[in-house]
Amino acid sequence: MTAVLRTANAWRDAGPIPGSLGFVPTMGALHDGHRSLIERSGHENDTTVVSIYVNPTQFDDPSDHDRYPRTWNADRALLETLGVDFLFMPDYAVMYPDDGRFSVQEHGLSDLLCGAHREGHFAGMLTVVARLFNLIRPTRAYFGEKDYQQYLLVRGLVEAMLMDIQVVPCPTVREADGPALSSRNRLLSKPSRALAAHLFEALTTLDSPAQVRRALEDEGFDVQYVEEHEGRRFAAVVLDDVRLIDNVPLAAAPSQ
Ligand code: PAJ
Repeated sequence: MTAVLRTANAWRDAGPIPGSLGFVPTMGALHDGHRSLIERSGHENDTTVVSIYVNPTQFDDPSDHDRYPRTWNADRALLETLGVDFLFMPDYAVMYPDDGRFSVQEHGLSDLLCGAHREGHFAGMLTVVARLFNLIRPTRAYFGEKDYQQYLLVRGLVEAMLMDIQVVPCPTVREADGPALSSRNRLLSKPSRALAAHLFEALTTLDSPAQVRRALEDEGFDVQYVEEHEGRRFAAVVLDDVRLIDNVPLAAAPSQ
């Protein structure tokens, strides 16, 4: 049964949920990457909650927030076919009763990689995830390795704030030609979408981050970073004004 929950009060009114509760936070525009997290939650928990909220505080660029794809009818239909128990679609007033006076800041990993290029992004993300965790109070929460830095930060948040939640990492789901599925892929022109396949290829076939950067720049990518941390190789590029990120374990890179 799918119950549609719009407000925090409605969620609380649903009463205590018996058994284990799996939670998949999303910003909607759902694709097979999201689907893999939702299915895993369904297998591992008695009840699964999915949230859809395009969180304004994690967008450093307001135009990126405005054009973020919103496909709520299709999302709802997909969640019904997946047998999700609850869909939580809060609005700003529910998530930010303080109008954003309070926030969660991490000082360390959030300044690296994407954090160095997206001012305030991880503070906004951690702030909304902490609030969602407090509202939903899940047993387990599912995060994709596609956003590996996000996963590490959320795991750190739970440890630091002594939250009793298991953060479960889930493998990156890819298109047949390599690119990680992303809601942003649909904003790419046809030629850029074809070029996007070279990002994953370069990450997994070239020996060093410097070589990856050079190869991508030669092909016309605007490269923000290619770096290795925590046993993984990470990259962020801009194509057609669309920012794409990816990462692979170093075992998948040839020099290791
Ligand atoms: P969103 O980009 O919608 O992603 C929701 C979840 O799906 C994240 O955990 C993300 O890592 C995962 N995901 C996206 N693409 C994936 C892919 N190709 N393979 C596997 N998992 C994938 O990440 C966010 O939303 C937001 O920052 C959020 C955590 C909801 C906070 O606002």
